[in-house]
Amino acid sequence: MDETNLLMRVDRLTTNFHTYAGVVHAVDDMTLTIPKDSVVGIVGESGSGKSVTMMSVMRLIPSPPGRIEGGHVWFDGAALGMPDRMEKDGPNKGMVDLLSLPADAMMKVRGRHIGMIFQDPMVSLNPVLTIGLQMTESMVAHGLATNEEAWKRAVDMLALVGIPNPEERMRDYPHQYSGGMRQRVMIAMALSCSPELVIADEPTTSLDVTVQAQILELMKELKAKLKSSIIIISHDLSIVAGIANKVVVMYAGRILEEADVYDLYEKPGHPYTMGLMKSVPRLDAENRERLVPIEGSPPDLLAPPVGCKFAPRCKYAMNICREQEPPLVTVGEGHRARCFLHHPTAPAVPGFVKVG
Ligand SMILES: Nc1ncnc2c1ncn2[C@@H]1O[C@H](COP(=O)(O)OP(=O)(O)O)[C@@H](O)[C@H]1O
Ligand SMILES: [Mg+2]
Repeated sequence: MDETNLLMRVDRLTTNFHTYAGVVHAVDDMTLTIPKDSVVGIVGESGSGKSVTMMSVMRLIPSPPGRIEGGHVWFDGAALGMPDRMEKDGPNKGMVDLLSLPADAMMKVRGRHIGMIFQDPMVSLNPVLTIGLQMTESMVAHGLATNEEAWKRAVDMLALVGIPNPEERMRDYPHQYSGGMRQRVMIAMALSCSPELVIADEPTTSLDVTVQAQILELMKELKAKLKSSIIIISHDLSIVAGIANKVVVMYAGRILEEADVYDLYEKPGHPYTMGLMKSVPRLDAENRERLVPIEGSPPDLLAPPVGCKFAPRCKYAMNICREQEPPLVTVGEGHRARCFLHHPTAPAVPGFVKVG
């Protein structure tokens, strides 16, 4: 990829939780590239490590029990305005490792350069403060605006995300907003400091279906207007696919597949991805066939299986899959998959190209 187009690269990130029951390997050797002006989707069943990856990026992992045990989070140093912290040479030239920033510098990154939208706005909004106060707080704290300017900008942002009578609604408290409206406020807040990256972690999961669709539509509209890159996380492939250019499929703390959204649908390269697709409802289905969820459940991360973490649920699993973890191999342009079926000596399975 064109290096000047790179906003963030999560490089070999490993995050564990040291619990009484043992070590939970929540994120293992995760590498993820976010180009500027892009929408990257991360999809996977509950517990696959999506949130822990992003909380690691934000350095918000509760510690103890959590610990980032390895890796780097490279972020565009010019965007951060931290020239003296940039790598001078090498493959990460011009990038700053967020994981090695002092705590005070990291505080300046959160909200200002990376905004976050969470699943449940009621948890992230303070119930005893007005929306207006909460909207203006971070703009003022980051020194981007005076109180008065921040107020004006907050009103504009509320209007932008479709809150009627924004001037008046600034004086309301979170409980006076509906669930969908609160999520709009969260989006407005995340965007208020014009961050280069917005992380939306299950932004529509707590909403009912029609409101879900409206929020996704809003995010698409905003993406067209604003320059930020977006990472959208969901357990639901259809939500991610509707907005992302690139999709990353996670399972048991690792990437099983990544591809452009079109390639992922046309040529899925991992049995897990194929399974996720079958569990997506199709509006054009002839007789509304029942959804086929993937049988079985994700592995216990305290004692994950040796070999491919998906093998116990995989109908194509071979002996080698239970013995060795397959590497992520390139199966097409920008398309990688972690599956031995791509190996030249593997049995032919329709849809699996052989590489190597
Ligand atoms: N505070 C914690 N203590 C112990 N384990 C945790 C903690 N937070 C997350 N985990 C574990 O890390 C794994 C990944 O969790 P998470 O990233 O939240 O999954 P996802 O967002 O994909 O649903 C899960 O097995 C979860 O139980
Ligand atoms: Mg999560």
